[in-house]
Amino acid sequence: AKVAIFISGRGSNMAALLYASFLPGAAYEVVLVAANDPEAEGLALASGEGISTFALSHKGMPREQHDEAMEQAARDAGADYIVLAGYMRILTDGFATRWEGRMLNIHPSLLPKYPGLDTHQRAIDAGDSHGGVSVHLVTPELDAGQVLGQMKVSIRESETADTLAERVRFAEHQLYPRVVSEYVGRENDPDFLLGKVRELAL
Ligand code: GRF
Repeated sequence: AKVAIFISGRGSNMAALLYASFLPGAAYEVVLVAANDPEAEGLALASGEGISTFALSHKGMPREQHDEAMEQAARDAGADYIVLAGYMRILTDGFATRWEGRMLNIHPSLLPKYPGLDTHQRAIDAGDSHGGVSVHLVTPELDAGQVLGQMKVSIRESETADTLAERVRFAEHQLYPRVVSEYVGRENDPDFLLGKVRELAL
């Protein structure tokens, strides 16, 4: 499967996804890394690995127009899937709807707990025993699509949002390539294909 990865900054999840795609037998290939910030650090890493990149600042541009340009870049690259990896933009409904079932996101909480921002601080303040990370399908509603995979991370005594975020990031780098591989790999699963045939027959 061909995958476009959208980032906004550091791109450490993108890097984890990219290097996992270089493993023998990988289920997906990264055809594009796109950012809404031309200064996003991850762009240099991707282009250094020979991956096509696209960058377009969202500043001073209507949301629809920016989404359309990002979407077009993914289409031009031949992407079957869009994988959001620290992409800090809320998508227009149209964009999310057009890619429904073919767009994934990673969110640093154990969804349905703590959609939105400041997830680590909220988990600490609530006295939770664990924080964590979720990979989910993207729907027009923020952080609300079907959860495809999760990993828990213990919250320790005197934890801060920063210390927790750092350990959650280690978990993210393990979880995201695994879930993307499983999800796109389902297209090679005979049961999944049979389901598709049944859908078509209805
Ligand atoms: C990750 O913690 C992700 O869960 C959140 O933004 C962060 C992105 O980090 N949505 P990076 O750019 O992948 O390093």
